[in-house]
Amino acid sequence: MDILAIETSCDETSAAVVSNGTNIKSMIVSSQIKIHSKFSGVVPELASRSHMENINFVIHQSLSEANIDFNNFSKKIDAVAFTSGPGLAGALLIGTIASKAIASVYKKPLIPVNHLEGHLYSYYINNSSIYPPFLGVIISGGHTEIIIVEKFGKYKTLGITRDDAAGEAFDKAAKILGLSYPGGPIIDEMSKNGDPTLIQFTRPLLKNGWDFSFSGLKTALLNYVKTNQIKSKKHLSDICASFRQAIVETIVFKAFKAAKVFNLKNIVLGGGVSANSLIRKMFINNGNKYEVNIFIPALIHCTDNAAIIGCAAYLKQKKCGLNYNSLQLKSDPSLTLYNW
Ligand SMILES: Nc1ncnc2c1ncn2[C@@H]1O[C@H](COP(=O)(O)OP(=O)(O)OP(=O)(O)O)[C@@H](O)[C@H]1O
Ligand SMILES: [Mg+2]
Repeated sequence: MDILAIETSCDETSAAVVSNGTNIKSMIVSSQIKIHSKFSGVVPELASRSHMENINFVIHQSLSEANIDFNNFSKKIDAVAFTSGPGLAGALLIGTIASKAIASVYKKPLIPVNHLEGHLYSYYINNSSIYPPFLGVIISGGHTEIIIVEKFGKYKTLGITRDDAAGEAFDKAAKILGLSYPGGPIIDEMSKNGDPTLIQFTRPLLKNGWDFSFSGLKTALLNYVKTNQIKSKKHLSDICASFRQAIVETIVFKAFKAAKVFNLKNIVLGGGVSANSLIRKMFINNGNKYEVNIFIPALIHCTDNAAIIGCAAYLKQKKCGLNYNSLQLKSDPSLTLYNW
């Protein structure tokens, strides 16, 4: 099953050709970081315009790298998949319309994919023998969720963030510290030379249920820098390391507690924050200690890209078939995880 997948939910325009969910024949990602970095965050209108400018190029390029053109497309592609939500309304529309147009011209089935499932199943690309049940931990720019995945497409959400997502917290912290966008990778890098014990940030909602809350941490950071001038690069590294430690420890603690309470032997990570070097290390170390298997996507599949959408689409069609009414499919910016 060869799928042309298209992803435009936020600030990456991406297309990929994915065979059987795991063989990435091509993956093109056009990032808009340069456009949004001067605003320290994604500007929705600029994101939509940029998707519009780049969508044809990424589709053509991904097909070309997979040795496909519009003459042999019908023979080589079995279905078209697209991110139907959640995400920025205008950004989603571009990928949705492009996918519908291609599917309609070539009479191919269309598969709508929930972006969160793209992150959740991105581990599968390199670990296709691992099936649910497992604990899914989605940590991205817009989401922080822990979910019991009972089967592919069958979920019990345990906890979500009540305010900022983990990635959003990193991005906002970077802005407070005068660092550039996106803040997650920069804070991660700065933290490597820092002392995580300099500031004892509270670990938010640690013992209270499964939900997360990171906005108070950001306010605590703001208060710290208002009352303590940043003296040196080392001091800045210490602040970054302390902030990173608080976020990572909170996520790791809740995930392992959930795995224990619900007797799950596998934990799967997904989303941009799973690229964080400390989170990868702590999950693996704790996994060894508590005998829980940890599956983390390759770095290239942590942040948004169409290959993870192609992978999720493959798993979805395996269970649900290809019976979507293409004409009626639409995008939904507020889409949540739902069972199929
Ligand atoms: N090494 C890292 N450490 C921490 N955060 C990181 C790292 N690398 C990327 N991130 C964060 O990941 C986020 C982007 O991830 P992703 O592309 O999955 O999010 P998104 O698509 O914007 O949000 P969502 O998937 O929730 O809609 C950014 O907030 C970025 O700062
Ligand atoms: Mg994402």
